[in-house]
Amino acid sequence: MAKISFICATKIQHNMKFFIDTANLAQIKEANDLGILDGVTTNPSLMAKEGIKGDAAVMQHYKDICALVDGDVSAEVIATDYEGMIKEGEALAALHKNIVVKIPMIKDGIKAIKYFSGKGIKTNCTLVFSAGQAILAAKAGATYISPFVGRLDDISFDGMELIAQISHIFSVQGYETEILAASIRNPMHIVKSAEMGADIITSPLASILALLKHPLTDSGLAQFLADHQKLNA
Ligand code: G3P
Repeated sequence: MAKISFICATKIQHNMKFFIDTANLAQIKEANDLGILDGVTTNPSLMAKEGIKGDAAVMQHYKDICALVDGDVSAEVIATDYEGMIKEGEALAALHKNIVVKIPMIKDGIKAIKYFSGKGIKTNCTLVFSAGQAILAAKAGATYISPFVGRLDDISFDGMELIAQISHIFSVQGYETEILAASIRNPMHIVKSAEMGADIITSPLASILALLKHPLTDSGLAQFLADHQKLNA
């Protein structure tokens, strides 16, 4: 397959936002305390990882996350039929003003995104793996689309090329839907997402913290402190 590279020279970007991709309250708090957190994304697997089960507990957990972070919080519907998604999505949206209804990239999902878009309820179209899917979700009025870069890399497709391709298409077409690079697995995914024009990354805490690390920072700081100590011991 020919390698496609798109450089988005024309897109006017604001600062890329940072969301954390977890339902773990301690990790959400740690990222928020850094002062760089703009929002949270969750999914049914991440909720299950925290042992959150039952509708009441799930709803309460979303409220707890919203109380911790002043930013968008994606909460995913479980239903896969149109009526079910509308019912669940409306209940989720009623929990807090910052809830974004996360909807899978399926036929009824596109209809549901269109419905919520008309109601002024924010949506995040999840499980996006192609530019065609991204265009359809944008056309339906999704607030965010979530291309899963790590899962594409897992099957030998370049996740970052997809971010670049969607970024180019949205610039050319003037779609306002924001590109939320998801399934981030390492700090270079974050750096590359910024380079390719993602509007937002959603990442596990470990990959965000890994951005801090450089051996020359560590050795340089150790040397500064040692030199200071020599004169001030
Ligand atoms: O945001 C999507 C994310 O939770 C999926 O990540 O690592 O399971 O592919 P991963």
